Amino acid sequence: MAEIVLGFATSHGPLLATPPHEWDLRGAVDRRNSELAWRDKTYDFASLLQARGPEFVALNAADVRADRFARCQRSLDELGRVCEEANPDALLIIGDDHHEWFMPDIQPAFSIFHGDQLLNRALSEAETEHQNSFGLSYAAQIYYPERDETYACPSALASHLVSSAIGSGFDVTSCAAQPSDAGVPRRLGHSFGFIYRRILSKRPPLIPVMVNTYYPPNQPSTRRCFEFGRALGRALKAWPGGERIAVAASGGMTHFVVDEEMDARLLDAMRTRDYERLVSEPEIYFRSGTSEIKNWIVVAGILAETNLAMKIIDYAACYRTEAGTGSGMGFAVWR
Ligand SMILES: [Fe+2]
Repeated sequence: MAEIVLGFATSHGPLLATPPHEWDLRGAVDRRNSELAWRDKTYDFASLLQARGPEFVALNAADVRADRFARCQRSLDELGRVCEEANPDALLIIGDDHHEWFMPDIQPAFSIFHGDQLLNRALSEAETEHQNSFGLSYAAQIYYPERDETYACPSALASHLVSSAIGSGFDVTSCAAQPSDAGVPRRLGHSFGFIYRRILSKRPPLIPVMVNTYYPPNQPSTRRCFEFGRALGRALKAWPGGERIAVAASGGMTHFVVDEEMDARLLDAMRTRDYERLVSEPEIYFRSGTSEIKNWIVVAGILAETNLAMKIIDYAACYRTEAGTGSGMGFAVWR
């Protein structure tokens, strides 16, 4: 029987690769964003600044930024060490697609890739310029390779996950080939590329599980994400192969408006296995980047089917404007 030997969860936001004195590159994007989602309301930058008060000026000081950036790097390095030590035969990553594979024409709520290999494509010149215009010049280096990289995929196990999920009442989208435009494969989403580029030293075979956390109108609820995770956990344990499997969540925590209280509540609910509390936050709180916490909730569901205990490596709120925008950076491991 397959064994789940490791779980981990990591934020993947661009500040993790951007020198702190350059965080304003992303802050500039927030300043022109008229749809900053915070709890149950939506703000433009000026109204958010008014709603949140003055405390974030100090939290944008150079030394605070530098300290939090350094903590994030240590956490990512620690995750790398943990993965190297576990040396899994396969890695299941739960991530959201950011209109990288799937476009608005077809947007599955849950999908599982079960082909034989995946291409993490290097950016073209035009794509690099597009990334730069969103302040992502540093982040692109840890999302995408300099040259195309190919990752093997355990297709039989992935197909088993698709059929098992269907059997558990989750009508997941089956994805056997990387979508392409005019013969050019679309880019592997940065939810997945980030983990291969920044955390892993080896390249275990990958099963990408894509959850539409982000885009209305078909985002699955937190409760549904948790139950989907449980179904995946049962399916992994039932797989007759002897693989040692790691599972990972990519993304989150609250962003682009950071909500440290919400992050703390959710981390605590996951750590203490208080699953009812984990799925009881108002659904509207999970919008924009904050929605990616649903990837963590899927992983918490998978790990609920094991005896592995969650340890929070660190949580560092990284602020890039005086209105409290940035990313709540969380890092956790289940062993
Ligand atoms: Fe993301």
